[in-house]
Amino acid sequence: MCGIAGYIGARNAIDVVYDQLKRLEYRGYDSAGIAYLDGGEIGIMKRAGKLTELGKLVGGRPDGVTMAIGHSRWATHGGPTDTNAHPHYDRFEQIAIIHNGIIENYLELKMDLARAGHEFRSETDTEVAAHVIGAEYAKGVSLEEAVRHGVRQLRGAYALVVMSKREPGKVVAVRNASPLVLGLGAGENMLASDIPALLPYTREIVVLEEDTIAIMTAETLRLTDGDGRELPVKVEHIDWDVAAAEKGGYEHFMRKEIHEQPQVMRQVLAGRIDEDFGIRLERMFSDFVWHEIDRVNIIACGTAYHAGLMGKHLFESALRLPTDCYYSSEFRYGDPVLSPRSLAIFISQSGETADSLAALRLCKEKRIRTLGIVNVVGSSIARECDRTLYTQAGPEISVASTKAYTAQVMTLTLLALYIAQVKEMPGVRVQAIAKEMQGLSERAKAVLELEPEIVKLAEQVRGAPLFFFMGRGADAYVALEGALKLKEIAYIPTVECPAGEMKHGPLALVHEGVMAVFGASESSVRDKIVSNMREIQARGGTVLAITTEDDGIVDRVANVTVKIPNGDFDYLDALLSIIPMQMLAYHVARLNGCEIDMPRNLAKSVTVE
Ligand code: G6P
Repeated sequence: MCGIAGYIGARNAIDVVYDQLKRLEYRGYDSAGIAYLDGGEIGIMKRAGKLTELGKLVGGRPDGVTMAIGHSRWATHGGPTDTNAHPHYDRFEQIAIIHNGIIENYLELKMDLARAGHEFRSETDTEVAAHVIGAEYAKGVSLEEAVRHGVRQLRGAYALVVMSKREPGKVVAVRNASPLVLGLGAGENMLASDIPALLPYTREIVVLEEDTIAIMTAETLRLTDGDGRELPVKVEHIDWDVAAAEKGGYEHFMRKEIHEQPQVMRQVLAGRIDEDFGIRLERMFSDFVWHEIDRVNIIACGTAYHAGLMGKHLFESALRLPTDCYYSSEFRYGDPVLSPRSLAIFISQSGETADSLAALRLCKEKRIRTLGIVNVVGSSIARECDRTLYTQAGPEISVASTKAYTAQVMTLTLLALYIAQVKEMPGVRVQAIAKEMQGLSERAKAVLELEPEIVKLAEQVRGAPLFFFMGRGADAYVALEGALKLKEIAYIPTVECPAGEMKHGPLALVHEGVMAVFGASESSVRDKIVSNMREIQARGGTVLAITTEDDGIVDRVANVTVKIPNGDFDYLDALLSIIPMQMLAYHVARLNGCEIDMPRNLAKSVTVE
């Protein structure tokens, strides 16, 4: 997500913070800014675009500044503009704040504050947080108290850093779900969202724990809980090199991004499910007339296409809404029949894929309603669609997509629930599914803990000449994505198909040594899956089944079984089963010495036909 930097000490704080932001560039960002204290006032410089734009302002900076905070923004609320860039002032310009994460209840807070006379310059949730904390501060309490009282009113995931002109030489930081690290030096202290920003200055690091407030000066660091009780400061010595630190200590971005999925699952839902498990998308769709839409076409490429197939499955099975899913390249040249009552949904991580963009423009020419499901805020597809739902997955760096897929499927699920809610479809258990979606993050964490098992498995199967990936129902669609991961990064040929199709051709390819991965989370068809497994084994193939913990059929037949925690909805179980497949592809590729983050011949964003 966005990058946070901050420094207090004898060096030129603006230079240090600018340098720290540069060291966070690899994370991706679209604007940046720095706040500093100069002559008793808080100065802010910020610019959309690359850091070099901000650098032009830094060139004319005041000298002798000893405290500054900085931010590189990856837009979520409001496009990437100068005004939306952080830092933000409060109402009275007493404080400046920077923020990573999402304030879920920012709209309610904003409306309350507006009624009390607050005016806002930006579209961001961050500025609202600044006003909330600023309003507390205006009551005459200390900055520390103002932050403590302010964050009690905020819901969501955030790391916040606040400075005040009334308390020079001090910053207050707080963390809830978004990472923040503090760096300790001699007569200087600093903070950042990520360790690489701090390594040139110090290797003595304090990782801020959940719901902890840090009060930092050049000489001191205090930590307290939300009630102001002092907490111990645990300093760690970091000896990673910078390259390892950029990947959060992981060897590759892909593994880091696989492990970010529990957090991404929370972010997708942030602000979109209310306390009664109703779906909150009405701001997006107030004039989108769902009753008029009688058909959906989902259009995408690669992993996003696979997410689209999951959407098709859900829209048809739960909403009974006829849905087709097209590859963008086929859609644009295929002269599809488009009903004026249809909705075209474009799914794209980058928002810049050439074929998807061209297909979107075709739909617009034909005056078809369009909806984007996009990760990169302000990207072409996001801008050109009538409406866009952002997946809120944070920047994805590895070419092989992992967390973006999970976020796309989760977003499609939210959309399906929202349509069911608007159309008052009694057959769809909106609240129950929404509740289960909220618990998915914890289950994803449990699945990630299976990694040591997957590593052992990868050691056994890394030499297989061919992998099958199969399933039925939603599992069949997840299998396509599992196969794509393996071929993209491990360069092993794969065959992927619905398990029931196997006998119509692919079975001819099974021989001794072939590996077959089955998704078996769909409980209603497990006995059918078991027959398919036996057919593979009878021809010398080895079966790996990914099933749920309550299953007692599949594990009696499969050669190896990976069990994931089950819920009440097979569809969400199927989504979770992508995580073991991602880990398997990753570890096979790693053991085989493949280049993981940038596989041969492939690009992250395909902006040519
Ligand atoms: C490329 C990437 C894939 C991605 C596909 C679609 O092939 O390597 O990871 O799924 O493009 O990209 P988009 O940005 O539109 O989701």
